[in-house]
Amino acid sequence: MKVIVAPNYEEMSKIAAKEIAKLLYVKPNAVLGLATGSTPEGVYRELIELNKAERVDFSKATSFNLDEYKGLKGDHPQSYRYFMNSKLFNHVNIDKNKTHVPSGVAENIEKECKEYDESIEKAGGIDLQLLGIGTNGHIGFNEPSDFLNLNTHETDLTEDTIKANSRFFDSIDEVPTRAITMGLGSIMKADKIILLASGEKKADIIAKLVEDKISTRVPASMLQVHQNVLVIVDNAAASLLKNSSNNEIEYVK
Ligand code: PGA
Repeated sequence: MKVIVAPNYEEMSKIAAKEIAKLLYVKPNAVLGLATGSTPEGVYRELIELNKAERVDFSKATSFNLDEYKGLKGDHPQSYRYFMNSKLFNHVNIDKNKTHVPSGVAENIEKECKEYDESIEKAGGIDLQLLGIGTNGHIGFNEPSDFLNLNTHETDLTEDTIKANSRFFDSIDEVPTRAITMGLGSIMKADKIILLASGEKKADIIAKLVEDKISTRVPASMLQVHQNVLVIVDNAAASLLKNSSNNEIEYVK
């Protein structure tokens, strides 16, 4: 795992956006794996600016999002389809037909999950997967558990996650308790993975991700066996990393 420590959230976001822009420059029809949450919002803002300045072109790109709440339609303001449209897709020259978010209201969820993985395969697989990380170590909605799923699947959300995400809803009772998420296998098949984390509250999980043993209780720790993972964090999220780490850590000024 390579770790880049940026001085702040803005710089972290710029570094990640540049990686995406670089990929689209060398491979205009790249397949992007995208994430929701507060963390990647800065990356999307930066990509919108780069797109306006004609420094990144999404016209041939395809995207697949990690997850969606069960029961929320794409026009629900807290759905992840709505998030992606409003934070990125509506503002760049991407073909919306080539943007994919699992449907939270599919009649047959099992079929929806199977077809989601098949569509990723058909598109040629994900070139670059962007990830956030939950304070409990989840990636997508792959929550800490004794067992992890390989493929896209329906899952329960943990209390931690429901609580963390309740900040976007009027009350905690409105937070969906189930979701559809890409599995660890779907994520690990990506050619390159960029995981982002910002702020002191992510410091503990970042130290676990980078320095602890692999455990299904920290789903993100599985990334340690992937060949091409770039962890980009700000100073606060890096604050519990020890220098004794075996990983390559680069501090950016
Ligand atoms: P956050 O969420 O970016 O809003 O912190 C990350 C996650 O839960 O994966």
